[in-house]
Amino acid sequence: MISESTLSNTVSELFRTIEFTAEPSGLYDPLRYMISIGGKRLRPRLCLLAYSLFKDELNESILEPACALEVFHTFTLIHDDIMDKSPMRRGMPTVWKKWNDDTAILSGDVMSIESYRRIAMAPKNCLAEVLALFSKTAAEVCEGQQYDMDFEDIDKVPMEDYMKMIGLKTAVLLACSAKMGAVIAGASEADADALYRYGYELGLAFQVADDYLDTYGDEKVFGKPIGGDIVNNKKSWLLTKAMEDEKACAELEPLMQMPVDTAEERSAKIDAVRKVYAGLEIDRLAREEVARLTANALAAADSLSVKGVRVEALKRFAESLVSRAK
Ligand code: IPE
Ligand code: IPE
Ligand code: MG
Ligand code: MG
Ligand code: MG
Repeated sequence: MISESTLSNTVSELFRTIEFTAEPSGLYDPLRYMISIGGKRLRPRLCLLAYSLFKDELNESILEPACALEVFHTFTLIHDDIMDKSPMRRGMPTVWKKWNDDTAILSGDVMSIESYRRIAMAPKNCLAEVLALFSKTAAEVCEGQQYDMDFEDIDKVPMEDYMKMIGLKTAVLLACSAKMGAVIAGASEADADALYRYGYELGLAFQVADDYLDTYGDEKVFGKPIGGDIVNNKKSWLLTKAMEDEKACAELEPLMQMPVDTAEERSAKIDAVRKVYAGLEIDRLAREEVARLTANALAAADSLSVKGVRVEALKRFAESLVSRAK
């Protein structure tokens, strides 16, 4: 089996040497910028890991689609940062902040196209399936992002709806990454589907952890401003859970109306919401939820036909995400 360190070095090398069209620089510089400032590269890593469960050598027909997943993900981040008015990502200014909204929209568009160009380099015998999987996933991410925005204007969102929303905006891309690796490696349908479920559950855990870190993380490590979800009235896992408590709900509703125009106003709102969360130990509950969802991912991995060291790698990958700080 290809070792995890080989996979990790392959992914690093892939993005260190990747080349994009040069001109016009106004279009492609933001793309190069976002790719060069890094990120965890989880989706290509997961894709290659799933592939390595079934195949022992890497070539372009898996590396290009794996790369496409990161390019697509990065495109969604560029647009997400406009939508969430977020000034910082990966510890650096976001594209709309460094350039402007128009540049962020168009550079994002061209990245989405670039991701399709690379997905199309999947082997001919599974190209139709890979393209169908990717297109369905890409549309679902947009659907999730729409629900995420719609929920900003709704006072209380049921937990079930929150889970459906994060399933779409985040989990399906991790699920697709894992399944795509399996499909390109020629795995059975049952194994490809088990990897989809693994990626999906892991994606849910990953987004709950992201919501947790948005309020309780260390900005320097997380690379994103702390408290942005509170400022935007995002129906994060924390807020959705807190709203299930009647008393907390009554306390939180007026806080949603607090002004957020100045830095002082924003920090007053963040402090007020955090106080309500503290009374309910929402931070602890969120960590427990991440652990529960991660256990679901591991259960899906157990149903794979491959066993032993190969499944251990999936466990380590999942566990590395549970305790993440960035
Ligand atoms: C951020 O994704 C968006 C979410 C789905 C929470 P990542 O946390 O994977 O971002 P990078 O790529 O490592 O910056
Ligand atoms: C982002 O969710 C999901 C997608 C980009 C599709 P968030 O808005 O929570 O991601 P961050 O926190 O900005 O990375
Ligand atoms: Mg968002
Ligand atoms: Mg965001
Ligand atoms: Mg977030």
